[in-house]
Amino acid sequence: MSKPNLQVALDHSDLPSAIKDVVAVGEVVDILEVGTILCLQAGAEAVRCIRALYPDKKVVADTKCADAGGTVAKNCRDAGADWMTVICCATIPTMKAAAKEVEEVQVELYGDWTYEQAQKWLDAGISQAIYHQSRDALLAGETWGEKDLAKVKKLIEMGFRVSVTGGLDVETLKLFKGLDVYTFITGRGITAAKEPKKAAQDFQDEIKRIWG
Ligand code: 5RP
Ligand code: MG
Repeated sequence: MSKPNLQVALDHSDLPSAIKDVVAVGEVVDILEVGTILCLQAGAEAVRCIRALYPDKKVVADTKCADAGGTVAKNCRDAGADWMTVICCATIPTMKAAAKEVEEVQVELYGDWTYEQAQKWLDAGISQAIYHQSRDALLAGETWGEKDLAKVKKLIEMGFRVSVTGGLDVETLKLFKGLDVYTFITGRGITAAKEPKKAAQDFQDEIKRIWG
């Protein structure tokens, strides 16, 4: 079982705030995400800035793309993103078109999806999935639990590299002990902390403690 990556999600509403946080934590985390909120606010410019600051890190554009996959992906790649996300209800042609333009596409799992669909993503050559508790579900009182672990486990068994995200804090990580999680993605757990760099290091230390 390999040690999961730590990805910071920059879900800022303006680029200067995102840059302030990314320069604080960029060397501590493994993967940098231009979050959906930042994509909507500052888009390609945000991707270009993060890429320029960290030429050697993986950069993900969390576009949650639903259509026009090829065009969106090309724009992300031209701005410097390695990976981008597509929403799970996008069609296979959208996903395939995106996958031609960027190094990897990740399927964002929200709402209703089936393992039958998931097999089709694998068959289309897409082997990264993001298991997500949505902000709004968490606000409505959802919590991480057995139902989530079972789905993550099944996706891993199917052959996906699975990232896990949504309101994670350091305490949540031990729930996933024993699972071959590919990446933990955290936004507010790092960026809303009093000391973002220390928060990122605390996540890394806990990942190392559990997955060695
Ligand atoms: C929301 C996202 C966020 O980037 C992801 O959930 C991480 O943010 P947080 O840790 O603050 O929940 O993609 O749709
Ligand atoms: Mg995100």
